Amino acid sequence: MDFEQMKEQFLNRIHSKQLIHATFSQPRQKSNELKRVKLKPIELKGQYHIQLEYQYERILKHENVLLEKFSDSFEILLQQFRQIHAQFTDEKIQVQLSKKNKVLWKVEKLENAKQVNLSHNRKKQYLLDDSTPYPFLIRLGVQTEDGKVKKQKFDKFRQINRFVEFIDDSLQHLPKGRQIRILDFGSGKSYLTFALYHYLKIEKGLDIRVTGLDLKKEVIEECNRIAHDLHYDQLEFLVGDINDYNEENAVDMVVTLHACDVATDMALARAVKWGAKVILSVPCCQHELNRQLHAPALDIMTQHGLVKERFASLATDSIRAEILTLVGYDTQLLEFIDIEHTPKNILIRAYLTGKKPTLEQRERYNSFIQFLSAEPFLQKELQQYF
Ligand SMILES: C[S@@+](CC[C@H](N)C(=O)[O-])C[C@H]1O[C@@H](n2cnc3c(N)ncnc32)[C@H](O)[C@@H]1O
Repeated sequence: MDFEQMKEQFLNRIHSKQLIHATFSQPRQKSNELKRVKLKPIELKGQYHIQLEYQYERILKHENVLLEKFSDSFEILLQQFRQIHAQFTDEKIQVQLSKKNKVLWKVEKLENAKQVNLSHNRKKQYLLDDSTPYPFLIRLGVQTEDGKVKKQKFDKFRQINRFVEFIDDSLQHLPKGRQIRILDFGSGKSYLTFALYHYLKIEKGLDIRVTGLDLKKEVIEECNRIAHDLHYDQLEFLVGDINDYNEENAVDMVVTLHACDVATDMALARAVKWGAKVILSVPCCQHELNRQLHAPALDIMTQHGLVKERFASLATDSIRAEILTLVGYDTQLLEFIDIEHTPKNILIRAYLTGKKPTLEQRERYNSFIQFLSAEPFLQKELQQYF
């Protein structure tokens, strides 16, 4: 088979919509930053596209090409790569090209034909694919160099993906036409901070600036090293206490994941004062209400330490959500990750609407607080706003 016949054969299969997936590899220039390109079919706005995922040394880029325009992309890919592995509905094809484009064409017929699945995120609905190497996940030890998620890190990977889904859902609430300012309070090892940066900046191409803040100096130093090595130039990490952080006038998005006890409340209070459009917060341990709680009508429950602790924790998150509603946020409590993976599984999601609370809402809140004899930290911080 010669080069022209190979192109025709390959494109025939693509145009008859038989593609499951394909990978172009072995760059013709060793120095090429672009290491490989993966292809898969997807449907966008009712039209069949081929999605090209460009895997550079450090970053990933995506391009969706209409089927009718794919031949041009194919020509460019052939100028850059010498190997193709493709899976079609009923056969696997391997193409090896010499420097002068001599063709080695191998076909393996499949016994059972595969179905084409055009849904955008067909792999377990993950926004970050579990077989694509992401430089930040490799550096953070979640993936191996070739992109496999390490067995013991799969829960972390799932958590990161879930968080990215929430970020994706929030995109429409973020400002357009200017840089978006994002803060991650209690960022720790910063799995989520890196994931957020990767998704918004590298995959979505948004103009963002992200800061992660944490008390731990060594952890922050390591995060800064990784950000520097990956050329994440709009991502910085600072050592500091959420309680003392007064560096900003306005922030668009505030995230916290498992910031301990009232550190979550301090982060929420900061977010409200800055007028953040989006708040995503997964609280951690909660002790404040557990200490204050005095509601004799609940004694049947609260006589048991374990039940009291869980009740206090759920009541705290409900109070947080209610306060955010009172200060003008559309707020929901959502399941972050299956309870079997972590008991800390409630995510507070709040989008700024600026809606004023009704008298009835304020009274409902006050009677709940009185019933519990509670004086929540967040209320003290934000009382003036509702
Ligand atoms: C359980 S870790 C979670 C880290 C990270 N968000 C994650 O999910 O992997 C909680 C982090 O919050 C930080 N933290 C707790 N209180 C803080 C405060 N007042 N100011 C800044 N960071 C705080 C801790 O140092 C710790 O790294």
